[in-house]
Amino acid sequence: MNLNDIRKDRQKWMTWKNIAPLREILDNLPDVKAEVELKDTLTFTCKEQVDIKLIEESARAMMPWRKGPFDLFGLFIDTEWKSNIKYNLIRPHFNLKDKRVADIGCNNGYYLFRMQEDSPKKLVGFDPSALYKTQFDFINHFAKTDIVYELLGVEHLPFYEEKFDFIFCLGVLYHRSDPVMMLKDLYKGLDEKGEVLLDTFYIDGEDEVALTPKGSYSKIPNIYFVPTIPALKNWCLRAGFSSFEVLETSVTSLDEQRKTEWIEGQSLEDFLNPDDSSKTVEGYPAPKRVYVKLTKERNGKEKQEEY
Ligand SMILES: C[S@@+](CC[C@H](N)C(=O)[O-])C[C@H]1O[C@@H](n2cnc3c(N)ncnc32)[C@H](O)[C@@H]1O
Repeated sequence: MNLNDIRKDRQKWMTWKNIAPLREILDNLPDVKAEVELKDTLTFTCKEQVDIKLIEESARAMMPWRKGPFDLFGLFIDTEWKSNIKYNLIRPHFNLKDKRVADIGCNNGYYLFRMQEDSPKKLVGFDPSALYKTQFDFINHFAKTDIVYELLGVEHLPFYEEKFDFIFCLGVLYHRSDPVMMLKDLYKGLDEKGEVLLDTFYIDGEDEVALTPKGSYSKIPNIYFVPTIPALKNWCLRAGFSSFEVLETSVTSLDEQRKTEWIEGQSLEDFLNPDDSSKTVEGYPAPKRVYVKLTKERNGKEKQEEY
């Protein structure tokens, strides 16, 4: 697979009629010297006078904003997700110092910006979304980081030009119709002693089974499999990982994901059964997340199945 051909092809996404005007907005942003605070709200300040109206119009043109929040010179982008909650949950479980790090499904890069606090060797985000890449470019215009954003998907990871020491893959597995294949792709993207930190929806139970929603799950159309934790473990071991460690489990609260003025449409409160929030509107168990750490190698042994 020639990734440069794919990159070249995807660069054309920037000329789509919904994206091209946003790219023009990026070209006209003021060049300011901003200070960035890497805290729960990624906060940008500067000594110069900033045209806040222009910043706000630019940010609103790039809606919906899912991941954040951000504060740009006093403009608060109150994103649908308080992504700081997930980041703070996983924070005790990694140290990225001097590591080559990938965030697969990085959205607008919120976590990548925060990960700079560890001084990693390299940060690369993968997300095949022209809009989220544009949001990233907007924020990065002020942040001026050397984070690399690839318009590529997890399926391109085995062919990537370099391997990673640490891969985050948060909230992507349930979107894949072949989850074991996806886990194999993550495995192949790792260097010898690499680690993956992954989260996905799960259902309660000791049986090695997965829920396969008929149409949608929690009104999300592209959810294919929601495993029990033992089933998830089997998937990971079959993909070749040598160890599987459950780090955390959580239930998304109405405080963490909610409708704000920065998204159109509905949010979590509309996705759950109004009479019983332990169920989705479709009658399935309400979303719960499990966070796991996977390692590639133990005792020098690897055991990935061929495919
Ligand atoms: C549910 S969001 C999760 C965002 C973020 N990682 C988090 O956990 O908050 C799923 C993300 O995966 C991205 N995505 C879609 N297809 C993908 C693919 N083939 N490979 C990697 N990411 C993909 C979407 O654009 C979206 O940003």
